[in-house]
Amino acid sequence: MKKASMILDKDFQISRIDPRIYGSFIEHLGRAVYSGIYEPGHPLADEEGFRTDVIEAVRNLQVPIVRYPGGNFVSGFNWEDSVGPVSERPKRLDLAWYTTETNEVGLHEFASWAKKADSEVMYAVNLGTRGPENARDIVEYANHPGNSKFSDMRIANGLKDPLGIKLWCLGNEMDGPWQMGSKTAFEYGRTANEAAKIMKWVDPSIELVACGSSGSGMPTFGDWELTMLNECYDNIDYVSLHRYYGNPTGDTASFLASTMDMDDFIRSVVAICDAVKGKKHGSKQINLSFDEWNIWYHSNEQDKEIWKREKWDRALPLLEDIYNFEDALLVGSMLITLLRNSNRVKVACLAQLVNVIAPIMTRTGGGCWAQTIYYPFMHASRYGRGTALKAIIDSPKYDSKEYTDVPIIDAMAILADDGSLTLFCVNRDLKDECLLDLDLRSFGDLKMTEHIVMHHDDVNAVNTEEHPDNVVPVNVPVQKTEGAKAEIKLSPLSWNVIRFA
Ligand code: AHR
Repeated sequence: MKKASMILDKDFQISRIDPRIYGSFIEHLGRAVYSGIYEPGHPLADEEGFRTDVIEAVRNLQVPIVRYPGGNFVSGFNWEDSVGPVSERPKRLDLAWYTTETNEVGLHEFASWAKKADSEVMYAVNLGTRGPENARDIVEYANHPGNSKFSDMRIANGLKDPLGIKLWCLGNEMDGPWQMGSKTAFEYGRTANEAAKIMKWVDPSIELVACGSSGSGMPTFGDWELTMLNECYDNIDYVSLHRYYGNPTGDTASFLASTMDMDDFIRSVVAICDAVKGKKHGSKQINLSFDEWNIWYHSNEQDKEIWKREKWDRALPLLEDIYNFEDALLVGSMLITLLRNSNRVKVACLAQLVNVIAPIMTRTGGGCWAQTIYYPFMHASRYGRGTALKAIIDSPKYDSKEYTDVPIIDAMAILADDGSLTLFCVNRDLKDECLLDLDLRSFGDLKMTEHIVMHHDDVNAVNTEEHPDNVVPVNVPVQKTEGAKAEIKLSPLSWNVIRFA
């Protein structure tokens, strides 16, 4: 058995956790909207056509914000197509995903769905094929009380009260050549600045996310952030980060170490934001919106086949990654990474929420079930609220093909406002148990109340509609604590939630 130690102290604080770190994302892509959240005719659909089983599964995750309507989709999207009488809305070719968009679900419908799911809309504007003018108009439509062209249009469309959307994305991945209307960093920075300025003139209470690079692997990464921030720093509030990992070669040791890269990515973007702040002699701090993160690779080949057969159909079954047990471990570790950086990461969106690289899957006309990655997200969202504590960890390390000095224990501790403490912990070791020696020096007589473990002997094990409980968390007996000390056994390859009260 391996041994690790951890010191936690109430006074070693990283930051208050912004609940929006547990956001998610629904794009008009594949079966996310059509036959995901929306399936009129399904036995469990409500009067608006929304699947109530899906709403229940989303509510259970306690997702405070949902990014919408894209993604790559938004860069060719005309928001006006998605409002007004449904029968009059146009069908459009979506050039991002080679699909036909019918606009049956639009802004009003999605806002209503979000309310039912106990969530709020984070809305992305199109800065690809469109520009500042349309971005201004949609803010007026959504947020202005009335007595102007677009707010009156909203009222005429049946919504007297403004939607009050607080968080807006200034386009999506505008550095990517795959994006409709992609731009150079300077072009984007100027456009984002002008859009941001007039969007805030319409509603000064909104917050804005500017596009960072679409990934740290982009050749322009770094320079993009620097150049575009130079142009729009004063009018934006957050920079976006996007990152997906995969394990196409079956190298679990490297795959589980991917969060070393994620940590570096976050630190680099923070450094660039602060460099621009210094250069501008300003006091304003730009924070981060990690508004696309997940694992994405299982469905890549399948998608190419689907496009060969069914290009331009509606609701193509795209990006339907089936997540296995090791994916749940990495998602746990990605959540730990977001929490570790919660002093600067204020918003994050698990991409995505239903059917498309998602924790929740549905069968059209059939059931709804939780993928493996559902569980660590649910635990973090439920128990990871309050103050993030800096854990001093001494852990054995390993080298993999892609990373060196990887701690086998990846962990974060959260102090809730009621004084209870939750530890999230991944044991990355492929075969050894680890005995974690925990020193809770300043916590008085806290007792361990719960130890939830997620482990499976097969890293490739998955959940399906027929076997939804193949990979699920279980409660194991809690270990005795003595004074401020605890010794906790962590199974090899396990996600652990350890709670004290
Ligand atoms: O989430 C899937 C896609 O990944 C999004 O549309 C895009 O922003 C990213 O490349």
